[in-house]
Amino acid sequence: MSKTATLEFNGKKYEFPVTEGTEQEIGIDIKKLRGEAGLITLDPGYKNTGSCESAITFLDGEKGVLRYRGYAIEDLAEKADFLEVAYLLIFGELPIKEQLEKFTKDIKEQSHVDEEMKKILDGFPKSAHPMGVLSSLTSALIAFNPSSVDVSSEEEMYKAIVKILGKFPVLAAWTLRKKNSLPLNYGDEDLGYVENLHKMMFEKPNKSYSVDKAVIDALDKLLILHADHEQNCSTSTVRMVGSSHAGLFASISAGISALWGPLHGGANQAVIEMLERIKEDGGDTHKFMQKAKDKEDPFRLMGFGHRVYKNFDPRAKIIKKSADEVLGQLGVEDPVLDIAKGLEKEALEDDYFVKRKLYPNVDFYSGIIYRALGIPVEMFTVMFALGRLPGWIAQWREMRLRKEPIGRPRQIYIGENLRDFKPLGSR
Ligand code: ACO
Repeated sequence: MSKTATLEFNGKKYEFPVTEGTEQEIGIDIKKLRGEAGLITLDPGYKNTGSCESAITFLDGEKGVLRYRGYAIEDLAEKADFLEVAYLLIFGELPIKEQLEKFTKDIKEQSHVDEEMKKILDGFPKSAHPMGVLSSLTSALIAFNPSSVDVSSEEEMYKAIVKILGKFPVLAAWTLRKKNSLPLNYGDEDLGYVENLHKMMFEKPNKSYSVDKAVIDALDKLLILHADHEQNCSTSTVRMVGSSHAGLFASISAGISALWGPLHGGANQAVIEMLERIKEDGGDTHKFMQKAKDKEDPFRLMGFGHRVYKNFDPRAKIIKKSADEVLGQLGVEDPVLDIAKGLEKEALEDDYFVKRKLYPNVDFYSGIIYRALGIPVEMFTVMFALGRLPGWIAQWREMRLRKEPIGRPRQIYIGENLRDFKPLGSR
């Protein structure tokens, strides 16, 4: 393989080094492009632009491969638990027993938030979307934990990391409890991370709490499957905000807002709403397939397509199998699961979808499991955020440790040239 790439422009040749990753991905290093050739690259949506080098997550969209720190997602989803995966993503290796115990203990010690935070939550109307509330509360945490803002040493970073891992589930649970008019609570130190989260979300004030193990296992798996996905929209947002040294909590808060959109994490809510709409309309999947293909119709098949996966999304495969298992174990029958399977089957045989390489993504079946677990639709994207938290943290930490420069893209200006100012009366 050639070690350089040559660009010819205006009769001059410029050489740029070619970088190769550990999985043989290659990229042209254009750091000196503007300085040497006076040019920039234009790539809206960053379809061809690598924003960083990263050692956290590898995905091969053509082959449907996803690995965290070299471990196959299929193995991790089957054999690891969420905090182990969080540790792996953030620190690079699977923890040994003592490391995991310390990590878990440090997080538990931070699993409370300042009482004053309740007043902030109180100010939101019950109708507020949980993602907006969660983003605001995460940002508000900064005021109560100022020492977590300006962190640069690994030790300071560690403290900020265990704080957010401890407090985030409390905030997520509270957004749900506020919606459901339930008193705000705290978790139970004796429970595991995921069971504790579940308890905080669903515990009733007049009933002792218990939960089916199948529910916790399913939730754990879903969180692992969502834990990182390299430079997606929300993660890039976290790295971008963090690159100004704004702090971990501010960066995570921005990531939550980015995740909220229906083209990203918000798709899990949009999928269930779409499936319900199809059901209420009589269940004619063919009609909705036609709508999705009609360029005049804004309807898209939510949960289908992915910027990177052009073969299949390995997470969707695991989740589809899991949906069947969980619904079976819990004895839940959900007619939209059949509608979803029908849509998938039609799409996989349809020229429009085949040609464009559109496959079910992680969000296509996840909502069906969330619903079977009793999680309300508006909380689906919050569940995604809970899963993605370790990924955001790992990417933010890597960015800071690599001392990456502030993110600041260029543009090609297409506006007016210099004009004379006209006073108000003469315009
Ligand atoms: N339904 C119908 N047509 C689609 C869909 C879809 N879900 N997704 C893509 N297409 C079509 C586009 O119209 C386009 O067609 P064209 O070439 O004739 O113009 C072609 O496929 C390529 O699509 P783009 O939008 O250019 O692909 P891009 O990589 O920019 O977008 C995205 C990817 C946003 C995920 C898109 O597929 C989509 O909107 N999907 C539905 C929303 C969704 O499920 N999002 C969750 C993604 S996973 C995640 O973020 C966790």
